[in-house]
Amino acid sequence: MAESATTVSRVKLHNMEFTPYLSAAELEVAIARVAGEIDAKYAGQRPLFLGVLNGAFFFAAELMKRLDTECEISFIKVASYLGTSSSGSVTQLIGLTERIEGRHVVIVEDIVDTGGTIAHIMEELAERHPASVAVAALLFKPDAYERQYPIDHVAVRIPNVFVVGSGLDHDGLGRNLPGIWRILEPTS
Ligand code: IMP
Ligand code: MG
Repeated sequence: MAESATTVSRVKLHNMEFTPYLSAAELEVAIARVAGEIDAKYAGQRPLFLGVLNGAFFFAAELMKRLDTECEISFIKVASYLGTSSSGSVTQLIGLTERIEGRHVVIVEDIVDTGGTIAHIMEELAERHPASVAVAALLFKPDAYERQYPIDHVAVRIPNVFVVGSGLDHDGLGRNLPGIWRILEPTS
């Protein structure tokens, strides 16, 4: 890219074009609000944040640096692979080494879309008997959401459009873009 990513109005990632949607400054304000909500809710409870890699690295860092509450953070990954039966894709939680029994856990996600990923994580964590589990998401698409779990702390609600930037990717690319960029509708 010849121009700085902050001044261009379009960026191409693989076969798709994206245009600026939320600025880095808008995200900062929204993340600061979420940090305030979490500080108020968990004061004195030493919550354990579980960031979901890869996408949540940005939000996890931006959230953590704004929290005053004593807390811990660790990272997990959700791996999808094709099962051997006809049940199709099987999801597995990897990297959870902490004992979460009796702890207040906050899952930190880049985006909640249909909710399939978050539902799977909630179910896996529930088996380990935490004191509570909440979800903090940088972005939430309420129109796409198909599950019942409350998404407790949301920085920005967005319509059902595909976005990249600030940790979110299109097939591996775009995680480093500042702010949030939305896919451009084909014009012809
Ligand atoms: P789910 O449908 O809520 O399970 O979302 C699963 C995953 O899809 C998210 O964690 C993201 O990795 C990815 N995803 C959903 N929507 C978007 C998007 O607009 N941009 C980039 N990734 C997305
Ligand atoms: Mg993700």
